Amino acid sequence: MSEKIKVTYSTLASPNPKLDLLYDEAVQRTKANFGQTFPLFINGEERSVGTTFTKVSPIDTDLVMGHFQKGSEQDALDAIAAARAAFDGWRKTPWQDRVAILRKAADLISDRLFDMGAVMSFEVGKNRLEALGDVEETADLIRYYCDQMETNDGFAVTLKSETQRHHNRSVLKPYGVWAVISPFNFPGALAGGPSGGAMVAGNTVVFKPATDTPYTGWLLTTCFRDAGVPAGVFNFVTGGGRTVGQTIIDSDDVDGITFTGSYDVGMHIIRTFAGSPLPRPVIAEMGGKNPTIVSKKADLDKAAVGVMRSAFGLQGQKCSACSRVYVHQGVKDEFERKLLELTERINVGDPTQKENWMGPIINKGVYEDYQKFTGELHRDGNVLYGGKVLDRKGYFVMPTIANDLPEDHHLWKLEMFLPIVTVASFDDLDDAMAKANDVEYGLTAGFYSEDEDEIEWFLDNIEAGVLYVNRETGATTGAWPGYQAFGGWKGSGSTGKAGGSLYYVQQYMHEQSQTVVD
Ligand code: SIN
Repeated sequence: MSEKIKVTYSTLASPNPKLDLLYDEAVQRTKANFGQTFPLFINGEERSVGTTFTKVSPIDTDLVMGHFQKGSEQDALDAIAAARAAFDGWRKTPWQDRVAILRKAADLISDRLFDMGAVMSFEVGKNRLEALGDVEETADLIRYYCDQMETNDGFAVTLKSETQRHHNRSVLKPYGVWAVISPFNFPGALAGGPSGGAMVAGNTVVFKPATDTPYTGWLLTTCFRDAGVPAGVFNFVTGGGRTVGQTIIDSDDVDGITFTGSYDVGMHIIRTFAGSPLPRPVIAEMGGKNPTIVSKKADLDKAAVGVMRSAFGLQGQKCSACSRVYVHQGVKDEFERKLLELTERINVGDPTQKENWMGPIINKGVYEDYQKFTGELHRDGNVLYGGKVLDRKGYFVMPTIANDLPEDHHLWKLEMFLPIVTVASFDDLDDAMAKANDVEYGLTAGFYSEDEDEIEWFLDNIEAGVLYVNRETGATTGAWPGYQAFGGWKGSGSTGKAGGSLYYVQQYMHEQSQTVVD
């Protein structure tokens, strides 16, 4: 069990030798445990199916982390059936008891901070600070949804009465079986957060992690199990291909779903759900093409460090990553010089080593994408820095800054999900705003200016769900539950409500109006 250290993305910025020591020890323990085979978890029981897929680390593709079950269509259906069978008991469990169990799960996640963080570093390629941040964010998201249940007294509200004989209430009740399909980049927070929200509201969960991150998914499962989540309430199903995910999406016995991932898959799920016999809720978080606007009245040091952190943190593989910068013509050269200086100082390498801020990108497919996109940037624009892969055993690439890309180039609109940022200049702020808004996405956006009127103008006009002004720790990244609600507009999100926000947990319940007359 780890020593208690409160971690957020902000506290992580300050050096903490104790934290480093505990993390380094966990890295050694994690390596010593590599190579095990992990089960599915259905109806409170571990299940092996006979065929497995192998998870290798993107840091070194010879490093076999473990073997995970290749769940079948039947396994997915069994998980859904187990969740259905457990629903009645769980929804009738007093919400205060559900909160107590989920708070316990959150505490277990915090207790296991370093071991889960070390696994995430190997599994995703996160540096120690990003990995520990993800683990603690998972726990804090669950705690936040528990807080919301308590603050709202279980979401049962007495309404006005027509007469003394009338007793009217509005009650929010869970839907039933909820699917959670999570992405590789935040395998803790974007799996545990939605699962915690769904369960505290009284739903039962079928959870499928990204194929690249089954190990963190398993560790999360053990936290829910060890906290006393009853059999069937939380089910974990892995698969090596599309079978498990597609079965879950296609099943009319799933009452709602939370999906975080690409726009194309998110829209596929939304369309599939729209075609089912009854309406069913979809919470889809679908990425971004996040802009930062740098005014001529900006503090350029703040702007450069904020952009560098958001463009290259976690190798640009955050939905919130900054991938486009519009900088005023008058300060463009100086901004680029500062951005370049900071980027040159980034160490790319094994992210479990303290000196490396950037680790590898997640897999061979995106390694090939990186080469394709940087090839286009070399051909059609001007690569100021990077644009090359590194000759190592893992998927290591250089952070890349490019400018002079034609305005109508498709890379201005495509979510690359890689450490690539493109920079363009503008003369007129309104022109920059028009370009910033001219994409299908609307997740996060950043602005740098020391002028209050310009700041108001930015907040009034940008089309995105998460805004940051003059932020050095990240121009467009780094939301934390309770501090920043995280959710997208336009093609970035389907519900208009954000994660870690006042309005999130309600999405896992439907409203019932109850009138009882004496
Ligand atoms: C993400 O979900 O991609 C990142 C969250 C954040 O950076 O705020």
